Amino acid sequence: MNNMKISIIGAGQVGSTTAFLLALKELADEVVMVDINPSVLGKALDMNCCSPLEGFRTKITGSTDYSAISGSAVVVITAGLARTPGMSREDLLLKNKEIVEGAASKIKEFSPEAVVIVVTNPLDVMAYVAWKATGFPKQRVMGMAGTLDSARLKYFLSEELGANPREIEGLVLGAHGDSMVAMPALTKIGGKPVGQHLSPEKLQKIISRTQNCGAEIVNLLKTGSAYYSPASSVVTMVQSVINDERKVVPCSVCADGEYGYSGIFLGLPAVLGKDGVEKIIEYPLAPEAKALLNKSAEETLKIIQGLAA
Ligand code: 2OP
Repeated sequence: MNNMKISIIGAGQVGSTTAFLLALKELADEVVMVDINPSVLGKALDMNCCSPLEGFRTKITGSTDYSAISGSAVVVITAGLARTPGMSREDLLLKNKEIVEGAASKIKEFSPEAVVIVVTNPLDVMAYVAWKATGFPKQRVMGMAGTLDSARLKYFLSEELGANPREIEGLVLGAHGDSMVAMPALTKIGGKPVGQHLSPEKLQKIISRTQNCGAEIVNLLKTGSAYYSPASSVVTMVQSVINDERKVVPCSVCADGEYGYSGIFLGLPAVLGKDGVEKIIEYPLAPEAKALLNKSAEETLKIIQGLAA
């Protein structure tokens, strides 16, 4: 295969589902899951036993020892507490900061050349924390979120319009939280902007449901938060990096002047390739959309500054 290793820190629902999808797609020779809970070894064995049935050659390793991630091309951080009903992503801030800093220092030690994808919430802030703690160039650290929020928007539109979800282009930018911003002008079905398919009221309902989808799933699950679609979103990002696909993927990246932002992580459209974030794409945005994005950026910046204080 490609002689590559992909590692996942945290083998909870998102981490283990990600590992299984990566193996099913044979995206690397080896997928490593590291967790403090030794049950990770059982999860790996269980997945490996699927290989004769599903026909994948990827080997899945479970370990409680961080050195197992040595030499990874990509490391995904999913470790952290998940939201429970009534809890905001921001409530998780301080506890997860500690966990992400611990994981980041191990990545620096064992996989200093890796591209890092952060999934732990609050997402944009945790991507920033991982960037600082690894000391890696900004191109090699990113957060998964816009991919997921855009997928949710596309799914709801496909349901409403009876359209093939793959035929819908949809874009959600900004922070992964209540301030995320759907971009209707950049959301198209059959090449036509979504506004030509739906009334403004229906579109607004779909946008609100997209913004609240994480909480909707938390409330339905009762324990834990979404994992199939977050894992699928991570795999989309890993695939673009590992195969140097250079796909435009909305995700949390460190802006360096793009859209007028600097030094913060925020959901923006990025080209993902073998070196990580190859480029941030600047679309012209309508003034209202830009104002909402600015608000989202300001809120994220406040949290980041609060962490540093
Ligand atoms: C979500 O939006 C857990 O933040 C994640 O479902």
